[in-house]
Amino acid sequence: MESAHPIKLGPLKDIPVGDTKVIKIDNREILLVHLESGIYALANSCAHGACRLGYGRLEGETLRCLCHGSVFNVRTGEVLNGPATTPQPTFRVLVEDGEITLVP
Ligand code: FES
Repeated sequence: MESAHPIKLGPLKDIPVGDTKVIKIDNREILLVHLESGIYALANSCAHGACRLGYGRLEGETLRCLCHGSVFNVRTGEVLNGPATTPQPTFRVLVEDGEITLVP
C-alpha cells in the first residue's frame, strides 16, 4: 500500500477484540485484526492464491486461510504453515484518540 500520508481507517471501538474488519482503499483491501495486544493490518488478499483472508479463521495471533489452509502470524505476516511460501504483507497502523490510522 503506497501512500505518503497517513490514512484514517475508522474508530477502534468498531472492531471488538478478537474480531476483524475489511477496509477498502483505492481498490485494495486491508484486513484489520484486533487482538488483545493491539490492532494489526494485513493485505486481505492471501499471499498464496489471493483468497480473502477476511473469511479466514482467527486463532489467537494466527489467521488460517480457508481456501488451502495457510496459516499466518497476524502481527508479522510470517507463514507458519503452508502451502503459502511468502509472508502476508502487513501495514503499520497506529491508534490515536481512538482512531485507527494507516501510516506510511
Ligand atoms: S489462497 Fe490462501 S492458502 Fe491458498
